[in-house]
Amino acid sequence: MNDETNHDAQKQVDEMDAVQANRPTVATVATENSIEPDHPVVLSMRNLSVYYGTFRAVRDVDMDIRENEITAMIGPSGCGKSTVLRSINRMNDLIPTARVEGDLRFHGLDLYDSKVDPVEVRRRIGMVFQKPNPFPKSIYDNITYGPRIAGTPKENFDEIVETSLKRAALWDEVKDRLSESALGMSGGQQQRLCIARAIATNPDVLLMDEPCSALDPIATGMIEDLMQEIKSNYTIVIVTHNMQQAARVSDRTAFFTAQIDSENDRRTGLLVEFDRTEKIFSNPADERTENYVTGRFG
Ligand SMILES: Nc1ncnc2c1ncn2[C@@H]1O[C@H](COP(=O)(O)OP(=O)(O)OP(=O)(O)O)[C@@H](O)[C@H]1O
Ligand SMILES: [Mg+2]
Repeated sequence: MNDETNHDAQKQVDEMDAVQANRPTVATVATENSIEPDHPVVLSMRNLSVYYGTFRAVRDVDMDIRENEITAMIGPSGCGKSTVLRSINRMNDLIPTARVEGDLRFHGLDLYDSKVDPVEVRRRIGMVFQKPNPFPKSIYDNITYGPRIAGTPKENFDEIVETSLKRAALWDEVKDRLSESALGMSGGQQQRLCIARAIATNPDVLLMDEPCSALDPIATGMIEDLMQEIKSNYTIVIVTHNMQQAARVSDRTAFFTAQIDSENDRRTGLLVEFDRTEKIFSNPADERTENYVTGRFG
């Protein structure tokens, strides 16, 4: 073969590679065209708005949260991430002015139906907050707090404590000091304790509102690893300001922003885009998302 033939052959290979590269992979076809979703929907929000008094804090939220996935909510401060998160387990009920409009279903059940008990909702949908908030009680009593209220027999407590702490990757560090105060733990340990406490009532869903923002990188890494480990047993929704964290841990990402609302001239949060995390971070559909994830805004 002379050089020219070689060159032509190489050109052909290059062209084939280019065609191949442009061809959608099986995975993309499955994502874009599949009617059957890969994981069942646990929580669905349709046309959800949340008000504080007459102020509409967030609007137009349409999201399906899927089982055994991690869903991240990102967006600039004040766009309504915590508000939406708290509406999922009816924590907003504790704010007298808060009101939810639209449809929010948990396994098809209307979460705001008058027959639904908010306490039971919070047992099934647990929450971990930004600042670790262990009770001023022993490590053991923190974990058993929920089961005690739920009327779980005391003889099950030892096992619940061990299982929950193991799931939260904390057992080895604290198994010899279960009767000591939880307030004597490090911040990262306290946050894992709060995760263990949330797990102890055997919830389906875990809501996490910036769970790592008070933690150093090592403790943050531990919580992220822990999320990956437990997601096969739970459905996780995490609010984070850390874009790398959303990209690292989540399967799907919702981007919220705040815009002046023509109805009342105030800044109202809204859901801009919700998609698979790799799509949101590599090829978002909306320019506002692109600007945010590339750091040009917010
Ligand atoms: N208890 C409340 N009463 C009245 N307004 C509230 C209340 N909580 C939040 N808001 C308002 O609702 C809007 C959304 O707030 P929210 O805390 O949900 O935002 P966020 O996206 O979580 O922000 P951040 O990233 O700073 O935590 C803001 O305008 C905020 O001022
Ligand atoms: Mg918030």
